[in-house]
Amino acid sequence: MASKLITYAELKAHSTKESLYVLLHEKVYDVTKFIDEHPGGDEVILAEAGRDATEAFEDVGHSDEARALLKDMYIGDFEKTDELKTKGPSSSSSQSNAVNTAVEQGSNLMYFVPLAMLGAYFAWRYYSSGSI
Ligand code: HEM
Repeated sequence: MASKLITYAELKAHSTKESLYVLLHEKVYDVTKFIDEHPGGDEVILAEAGRDATEAFEDVGHSDEARALLKDMYIGDFEKTDELKTKGPSSSSSQSNAVNTAVEQGSNLMYFVPLAMLGAYFAWRYYSSGSI
């Protein structure tokens, strides 16, 4: 499919119910005809107009049927600009994974340090009482 590049200005120009583009996964969809049929209501989609709707869309956990609907509304790829950084497929989740690992490591250390000190204390008591 030869894809047109949609600029940020174009995306912003279509942010009303009369004409509405939605940006999902770096692709742009014309959802004007669909918004009245959206099971989640029109407000939620309108709230994402002119910005990257990927996160909102994925947070809801849309079904495969919902994703299949997108195919017919696809109008082009989004031209990435500094004005609007799109969220890549995995950037946000890999970031939170890194945070989770850091937190996990931190809490492991929180258990390990007092336990090691307790062990050292008993070892010290054992050895010092044995030597007297
Ligand atoms: C623009 C493309 C979109 C399409 C084609 C779409 C399609 C659908 C479909 C078919 C459903 C029914 C449940 C399902 O099959 O998953 C649904 C539900 C829902 N959608 Fe979307 N949606 C879109 C965008 C959005 C956006 C940007 C939001 C923002 C938060 C949103 C929020 C919701 C919510 C909250 C529901 C649940 C409604 C309920 O269960 O009462 N949708 N959508």
